[in-house]
Amino acid sequence: MTKMVINPNRKLSRINRQIYGHFSEHLGRCIYEGIYVGENSPIENVNGMRTDVVEALKEIRVPVLRWPGGCFADEYHWMDGIGPAGSRKKMINTNWGGVLEDNSFGTHEYFELCRQLGCQTYINGNLGSGTVREMSEWIEYMTFDGISPMSELRGKNGQQAPWKVDYFGIGNENWGCGGNMNPDYYANEYRRYQSFVRDYNNEDHIQKICCGAPHEDYEWTKEVLATCFRRTSEEQHGFMDGLSLHYYVYPEGIEIKGSSTEFDENVWYKTLNKAVYIDELIRRHGKIMDEYDPLKKIGMIVDEWGTWYTCEPGTNPGFLYQQNTMRDALVAGITLNIFNKHSDRVKMANLAQIVNVLQAVLLTEGDKMIKTPTYHVFDIYKEHQDSNLVESSIETEMIGVEEEWKVPNLTESVSETADGTLHLTITNLSVDQSFDIDTTIIDRSVKTVKGEIVTGEIHAKNTFEEPECITVKKYDGTQITEKGIRFTIPACSVLHLEVR
Ligand code: AHR
Repeated sequence: MTKMVINPNRKLSRINRQIYGHFSEHLGRCIYEGIYVGENSPIENVNGMRTDVVEALKEIRVPVLRWPGGCFADEYHWMDGIGPAGSRKKMINTNWGGVLEDNSFGTHEYFELCRQLGCQTYINGNLGSGTVREMSEWIEYMTFDGISPMSELRGKNGQQAPWKVDYFGIGNENWGCGGNMNPDYYANEYRRYQSFVRDYNNEDHIQKICCGAPHEDYEWTKEVLATCFRRTSEEQHGFMDGLSLHYYVYPEGIEIKGSSTEFDENVWYKTLNKAVYIDELIRRHGKIMDEYDPLKKIGMIVDEWGTWYTCEPGTNPGFLYQQNTMRDALVAGITLNIFNKHSDRVKMANLAQIVNVLQAVLLTEGDKMIKTPTYHVFDIYKEHQDSNLVESSIETEMIGVEEEWKVPNLTESVSETADGTLHLTITNLSVDQSFDIDTTIIDRSVKTVKGEIVTGEIHAKNTFEEPECITVKKYDGTQITEKGIRFTIPACSVLHLEVR
């Protein structure tokens, strides 16, 4: 019997709902087809946004959406995406398949999408190939509430009232596709650009996100913070509110990547081992951040994470379209548990990407849409949003095929909502073994337990022919005990228990 202990008396940190955020780039069929079909499309839409997609995303309470990239952001010139749709300048999307981008989805359409989703806005600016003036005018266009050249232009384009920009990224992956800069060069550029990202409305502070490291590039974190971090007061941190981190799980390595659907048990564990590794990345980058910011006022913003496989056979390799199986469900469950546990430092995370790209929560084909196993994990984890992380621990053993890729059999996190309800999310990483878990909940007598589970064979997936192979199922295998609860978690599953 595996022992788990929960101490609701020890509230550790608030789990920002933004940890459950998403990312949408002008890449492949994410924006076009996946989200935006235009008002004249035969596919049901509201102001051009697919109704099925918006409704599905509202169910998982998308809290924040990052846009327009990714690598695309550092080639995006926002003025090309405003004004009458027919006369917008076209461009080549050089990063993603060299296809024509007609800019029919631009700033106005993005804010309309966020309005429909009821989510916060996270816009990524262009530092790589744009100018300071261009970035500064974009901020003026979006947020200035008064008479100015940019606010007048916004009005002329049909939007009188300013919008709210919650987060603004100053460049993306500037160590790579965003300009191949070294950390010192980027850091100085960051200081300059961010000076002109102004809070026109003092009540609506725009949170500025500085481009952080890829994976384990700790030198980048050190050098960028050395130049960019300025503490101006207990609450204000001068130049930045967040530092990003990007981490992708490539099962077979960055070159080969590996199939999204065909894998053996060893590759299963190898993939999950790489998912678990984000814990070390957060700790080590976090330790460097602690040297500057011991009070943890600056957020670690994991604004790209997820699995990255070889794209589906027969699809454009530049479109990064991949299937999604129970393996992705486990990657999502493990990663979200890790983010919850680090919610004192991780303040936002954005799964890459929301529809039709990489570890998408939704896939579309013409007028059809399916929810992936990853979608269902976001669904059963949504009660963690804005709740309080409470202290918990679970006994684990290392499992797997090859020594190098062994993983803990179980991961967990527990939070408490304002009404005192506890939410436990537990992942079982084993391909074939269930585990009995005896849970002690300190100083609580349990009255009711409700459960829901995402489970299936490791390769199980949803397809347009069989869209409901993996869904959320009711789980009623919990017994209330004197000290807490006892339950059995099946192999290859992600479980949510609501304990009152
Ligand atoms: O998400 C796909 C790409 O991955 C993004 O454009 C880029 O930032 C990262 O390398």
